[in-house]
This record gives sequence, structure tokens and C-alpha cells, in this order.
Amino acid sequence: MNAPTELAKVIATQPDPTLGYKTFTLGSFTFARDEYFAHIRWTTRDGRPLSHTMDVGNYLRALMRDVAWGFFYGWVNFDNVVGTVNHYKSVDLYAGSYNGTMKDAGVDLLENFPTDQIRATFEQMLDDWTNEGFDPFAAPQETGTPYGRKRGNNTAKITRARELATRCVGLKGDLPLRTDERGAPVNRAFADVPQDQPELHPEPGFENEVHAFNLFAFLSRSQVTWNPSFTSVVKYSYMCPTTEEHILPIIHGNDRVEWFFQMCDEIHWDCSDKNTGKPLARVIMKAGDMAAMPAYCRHQGYSPKRSMLLVWENGSPNLVYEIQKGEAPEVPVKF
Ligand code: PHB
Ligand code: FE
Repeated sequence: MNAPTELAKVIATQPDPTLGYKTFTLGSFTFARDEYFAHIRWTTRDGRPLSHTMDVGNYLRALMRDVAWGFFYGWVNFDNVVGTVNHYKSVDLYAGSYNGTMKDAGVDLLENFPTDQIRATFEQMLDDWTNEGFDPFAAPQETGTPYGRKRGNNTAKITRARELATRCVGLKGDLPLRTDERGAPVNRAFADVPQDQPELHPEPGFENEVHAFNLFAFLSRSQVTWNPSFTSVVKYSYMCPTTEEHILPIIHGNDRVEWFFQMCDEIHWDCSDKNTGKPLARVIMKAGDMAAMPAYCRHQGYSPKRSMLLVWENGSPNLVYEIQKGEAPEVPVKF
């Protein structure tokens, strides 16, 4: 948990005497949970009270990603109504603002918060609402239930350190390889993945420059789903492979182009217009396929079996502004 600052004061009620959960307030939004649902409430710009309901398991899986990824790149839609936009120093929280129908009806609300303030509120909500035995990063078949009245917590699982290599996994002093001893056994779905490592024969003096590792073996030992980690970093080129099972818990709205390489099995993507949610495309990616998601889309993936996906990001902090000014393209290639 980040140390609270004056700005990061969290507004929460006492736990509900029956259900055991706190209700949180952030600006004009309130967040409450019961045994099955998260309820988000706000007042529209013309003064009408509105509410939105999400399955609490889906809500906590989305909240987990938003917190762990520091609000990610661009839009993190929890569903087609609520979500956040990262402005990298501040964050917008919205309801209906990127839903064409709600926007047209004028029932949307968007408020901007300093990143520390929304982060502190989201972290405490995630901790209070996550019960013992439920891991929002785990595949649904590999964890317990999110439902019911408050039962303990699962703080260790919701505060995992993000795995970010500085140069490359396995280099001296960098993110280590995953092993049984480090608590990373091979996943049930990847029992057939060879675990051998490549031979390295660098010239003397280049031992820390020439490098290789078995990425399939590394991924076979991922304990979580839909959580890209940095395995190699060259300037702003971030290789972020991840293992996927069930549904990407957020609908990601791009503020830049990103690339997908399907390394095994398959993922089905729904792609829609970033601003309205209007459906644009279905992309069925099978082992070996590559795709690029343009900067104007939002996308959500469905992985019927645990699969390996390489996400390739351009992490340049200027890119989003270059795209806004028309200096960088929204698509990777024009035909
Ligand atoms: C994405 O939004 O592009 C994304 C996020 C998490 C993943 C995979 C893809 O695990
Ligand atoms: Fe994405």
C-alpha cells in the first residue's frame, strides 16, 4: 500500500454491520458491495441519481488490474459503463462517458483525480472487498469464490510486486527466471512445455551483454492470468508476455498502437470503437498469429484454454501526445 498523503485521504464508511464491507466515496461517485455485486452510484450533470451494477468477481478482477498496472495505458474500461483514463499525473474516473447511448442521453459523469487519491481509494476498496481465498489475478478454476459476506482478506495476493525487467529476464541483477524454489511451479496447462535453457557462449567480457532464455518455460510458470510482465526492455520497446485464461477482466482502450503475438493456443478478441463502444471487429488469433490494435480501438480477449500471448508496447511517454497532435499514426501500417 502506498503511504497516504494529504491528497490521498480515503473516504469510507464503517463496515456494514451485516455484510461487513465498507462503502467508499470518490468525488461524486460512491462504491458499495453486497454479497454478489458492486454498485457504483453517481448524480448526473442534471441532478438525477443513477446507479450501475457489476458482478463483484468481475469488478474485483478489473480493479486488481487497474491498481496493479498504475492505471495502464489510456482507458481501463471495467465494462461498457465505468472505467478510468490515465493521464499519467492524474486519472479520470467515468460512468457512461465512453458509452455512446449513455453519452447521448446525458446521464454520464467524468471526474478527474490526482493519481495518488484514486490509487489510495482503489487500493483500500480492493483490500476491503477481496475475501480470503479469492485471488483476482488467478484463473476462475484456480481460485475460490469472491461472493458472500466479508471473510478475512487476501492482502498478499493483491499486493504482488509487478514483474518488470530493467533489461532482460535472467540477466545478472535483473528479474530472475521463475523456478519451483521461487514459488513458480509449471501450470497444469503447460506440463508439456520443455524446461531446458539455451546454451550461451559469450566472448570473455560480454557475459552481461549476450543473453537468451527460454520464454515458453518462463511463461509456463506464470501464477497469474492477464498480467503482462516486462521481460525485455530496449529503450521504449517493452516485450510484455503474459498467460491468459478465461476473459481479460478489462476492456482496454488504447492511447497508442500495441501488438499481439499469439504464442500458443488461441484468443478471440472483440474490438470496438474507443469512444462509443460500437463493435468494430472480431479477431480470432491462433498460435503464430500477429495482430496490431490501433490507437482508436478498445479490445477484450477470450482465452478458452490457458494460452501464451506476447504484448509489445511502445512505452514512450510522448507518444500519446504525438498521436493527439497527428504527428504519430493511430495505425501501424497503411495499405
Ligand atoms: C491489453 O489490453 O492489450 C492486454 C492487457 C492484459 C493482457 C493482455 C492484453 O494480459
Ligand atoms: Fe490493450
